[in-house]
Amino acid sequence: MKLILTLLLLALVPAFSAPKAASKLTPEAAFTKTVQPFLANNCVGCHNPKNKTANLDLQQFTSIESVRSNLKVWRKVAWKLEQGEMPPAKFPQPKAITKKAVLKWVNAELADSQIALK
Ligand code: HEC
Repeated sequence: MKLILTLLLLALVPAFSAPKAASKLTPEAAFTKTVQPFLANNCVGCHNPKNKTANLDLQQFTSIESVRSNLKVWRKVAWKLEQGEMPPAKFPQPKAITKKAVLKWVNAELADSQIALK
């Protein structure tokens, strides 16, 4: 029985460590490598501490901790990205694959938190 269980667990491990480029990074590393540059390139031109377009400063997010302590904002970010509403249509758009990676990261953060359930 123990052996079967061990084999079963071993069989499951690869499923969790599937070789997706972004998933090799820790959430912290992915924030620095993918999410932060994405914001810098596509969002903070409007959502910075000076302009605060829509009363939103996305430049304030400099660490994963800052994201986790303000997930309400990130629910909106996920929503806007999912709807394809940000950046606004008239402005340069990020690569679909980058946007997808960022959205996945944000959704994972939200799923890991209580707030996603509210
Ligand atoms: C060219 C300026 C501009 C850029 C670039 C831009 N936004 Fe916006 N954003 C706006 C404006 C204007 C609004 C208010 C209108 C609206 O909600 O559609 C807004 C609203 C928002 C809101 C809703 C805020 C709220 O509290 O209702 C979020 C979230 C958001 N943007 C996220 C982003 C993200 C993420 C990016 C980068 C991928 C981005 N924006 C890029 C101009 C911009």
